Amino acid sequence: MNYSIKVSAPEAARTQCLVIGIYAGKRLSKAAQSVDGASSGAVKKALSHGDMTGQLGGTQMLYDIDGVAAKRVLLVGLGKAKSATIKQFQNIHATVAKQLQKGGTTDALSYLHEIEIQDQSEAQKIQQAVAAIGNALYRFTEHKPSAPEVKAPLKKWQLGVSSRKGLAKLEEAVLIGAALADGMSMSKDLGNQPGNVATPSYLAEQAVELSKQYRSIKTSVIDEKELEKMGAGAFVSVSKGSTESGKLIVMEYSKGKKGGKPAVLVGKGVTFDSGGISLKPGAGMDEMKYDMGGAASVFGTMKAIAEIKAPINLVCVIAAAENMPAGNASKPGDVVTTLSGKTVEILNTDAEGRLVLCDALTYIERFDPKVVIDIATLTGAVIIALGKVPTGLMSNNDKLARELEDIGQETGDRVWRLPIWDDYQPQLKSNFADLQNIGGREAGSITAACFLAHFTEKYSWAHLDIAGTAWVSGGAKGATGRPVPLLMQYLLNKHIS
Ligand code: BES
Ligand code: MN
Ligand code: ZN
Repeated sequence: MNYSIKVSAPEAARTQCLVIGIYAGKRLSKAAQSVDGASSGAVKKALSHGDMTGQLGGTQMLYDIDGVAAKRVLLVGLGKAKSATIKQFQNIHATVAKQLQKGGTTDALSYLHEIEIQDQSEAQKIQQAVAAIGNALYRFTEHKPSAPEVKAPLKKWQLGVSSRKGLAKLEEAVLIGAALADGMSMSKDLGNQPGNVATPSYLAEQAVELSKQYRSIKTSVIDEKELEKMGAGAFVSVSKGSTESGKLIVMEYSKGKKGGKPAVLVGKGVTFDSGGISLKPGAGMDEMKYDMGGAASVFGTMKAIAEIKAPINLVCVIAAAENMPAGNASKPGDVVTTLSGKTVEILNTDAEGRLVLCDALTYIERFDPKVVIDIATLTGAVIIALGKVPTGLMSNNDKLARELEDIGQETGDRVWRLPIWDDYQPQLKSNFADLQNIGGREAGSITAACFLAHFTEKYSWAHLDIAGTAWVSGGAKGATGRPVPLLMQYLLNKHIS
């Protein structure tokens, strides 16, 4: 889709479909007033029939209105909100985009971003609108030849504004929104790929592809043999039961200040989590193909950042492995030595995410990070604690945690912080090693993060547990692209040098 800003009065622009808002109680938005004025009251007349009252999400299509250049005018209900929430704003854009796509409109001019959102500038809203539309039109049909084709896909989406004031900023917002939507698409594609396609080697190929597509990205891949030599015993203990070779994938992007400390993203890339010898129950096990959702979000963020040539230094590391039962797989009771030198007693081979991550988190010390964020579908317990609404956030730095909380609110990609106090550490004590890899029934997401905290003492660190937010189950089963919006906005706000 091609997105652009159009400076025009709504009634004057030629387009297949003009999209304007109506507030509850048939109150006209600014664009609707303008169209009504130019058409001797055609909008108010249409509303007088009562089919559309402005209720949130309701729509009515009008055709061939005198005085209006557009072929069609879509009235969209905005509800009573003088000021909408970011979620409502995104949902309205998603509904309209899907409806137009279905109806066969190939180009549209929308003024829906006129809706107020508290504390958000026009540029922020335009970025959000573009991202929401791109996200709504996403489909994954690669392995489904029987899927119906979209007959006349939307090709061009214009966002109408009334003056040239601040135009450059708004155009930049369009580019950022489109890059974000593309990044989310990549993230969803990777999450939706089945485990027999998206193996650790496949993820490594994706990283090589990205570095071909964007010369600003340098990719290197460390395979399982090298990891073993290096001393990454925790990582290897997960991967060794699989015939797929585990990989530590490193992507470096340096468009920030020369020599400036980078932000580092670390993604859990378990391409299938069977549980290993501590085998998971069969029901729903297919969904464990998305246990590389953290890695997928890191890829999506890297792509979005490279696409807009953001002036930052960023290192992305993916811990890619498959967790399988086998004769040579790790067993409960095994003790392994991590890259840091600390030893771990593996009491449950299904708590594998922390094992691959702890070595990746030690590995990245060499980049002298300014800040580190790991993203992982780490625990089922986070879904019990928070449901599927916010991502679980845990951090050793209050300022970093607050920034992520704020950006979560701003983007709608929300997080909720859980504590990782030392009071939980006794749950990780082992009789036979420095640590054990599970902390018992209580506070499962927190003890998982407390485990990781042993490997992140040297830098500011946040951990995002996305087990509940990276994936939707049920009828609309699939990857969500979260938390790419959160990560991208964090990196943009920081302008990390
Ligand atoms: N990948 C799972 C966590 C998960 C569960 C993600 C449900 C998405 C949905 C992780 O590797 C795991 O198995 N965690 C265990 C930890 C336990 C053994 C301490 C869990 O959550 O049950
Ligand atoms: Mn597991
Ligand atoms: Zn897992």
